[in-house]
Amino acid sequence: MDGHTLQDRLEQWPRLPYGRTPTPLEPLPNLTRRLGGPQLSGPQLSGPQLWIKRDDGYGPGLGGNKGRKLEFLMAEALRQGQRKVVTFGGLQSNHARMTAAACAALGMEAHLFFFAQRASALPGNLLLDTLFNARLHFIPFGGGSGASLTLEQTNRLVRWLSWALVGRSYFMPVGGHTVTGCLGYVVAALELAAQVAALGLAADKVVVVTAVGTGGTLAGLMAGLQLIGSPIQLLGIDIGKLWKAFPASIARLAGDLCAVLGESHTFHPANVPMIAETYAGPGYSVLTEGTAVAIRTLAQAEGIILDPVYTGKAFAGLLDLIGNGRFSPNTHLIFLHTGGLPGLWAYGEQVRG
Ligand SMILES: Cc1ncc(COP(=O)(O)O)c(C=O)c1O
Repeated sequence: MDGHTLQDRLEQWPRLPYGRTPTPLEPLPNLTRRLGGPQLSGPQLSGPQLWIKRDDGYGPGLGGNKGRKLEFLMAEALRQGQRKVVTFGGLQSNHARMTAAACAALGMEAHLFFFAQRASALPGNLLLDTLFNARLHFIPFGGGSGASLTLEQTNRLVRWLSWALVGRSYFMPVGGHTVTGCLGYVVAALELAAQVAALGLAADKVVVVTAVGTGGTLAGLMAGLQLIGSPIQLLGIDIGKLWKAFPASIARLAGDLCAVLGESHTFHPANVPMIAETYAGPGYSVLTEGTAVAIRTLAQAEGIILDPVYTGKAFAGLLDLIGNGRFSPNTHLIFLHTGGLPGLWAYGEQVRG
């Protein structure tokens, strides 16, 4: 289908607009030069051209990729007449923080579940959660750490807990990983394809790189690009080794997104464009040396800040792949900045090196 048809179909869903789109797509000239790539008007050397798409400031509560998902999810919660929203994540969950902000703005109660001991200090995202007056529920056991549960099993577990502890509510799976939420990244796929065309870049030479937590962002982009037949390639970098049988969850979600948008397509788990595990280090939220270096590299080359849990880890993977010659010189690499900045304040000195 063409972009207009997809746009029309997407407009059938209720949606709360959380910002101005398109989010900026900007070149990273200094880092491109440092890595041996071409300048916009200069000679081509041996590296790819680097770009960044700024979803980091999009949406409520300091923004991030969850803003695009929350546009659809909060609209669904309102339509159901719910007054409470339940969701969960890691202690530094950006999704939880942004959900709390969205709830505050709509006069709803946010209930955030964390599979952890109640922390003695509440830094970073947790501080913001409390400022948004979210109810924090710390569950010091279970949660499927170490990829012992699938994403779907973990969601069922929290849903059950929330029935017992919160009662009637709108349940939002971890990371907003639902068909409704991930329509937000189908929208983003359309937006990206239009920006690539407007810049005159050859779409088949474009690779979009994103951090993968629950995989909803990647699934939405996969579905969107598939639906409009775009040759733009995707590369997800798993940052957490969080879920059992993870690519299957992403493939299923991407297929479900295509189906609700009127076209059937089967994605095979083996073809999910994701590097699993290699760059996740010891696990979710564990800062790696490569991540700290990547954060400093982008900060010092371009004045742009990445976060320690998601974007820093993914960018570390990207830098490693570039160093290993994975991309040909005529590639345009678009790093999707998915946000997460408040998490930096939970890591402090460790990032400075
Ligand atoms: C800053 C940031 N980047 C990337 C991701 C990954 O997005 P997804 O869960 O859609 O894979 C998340 C959340 O999980 C996030 O908070």
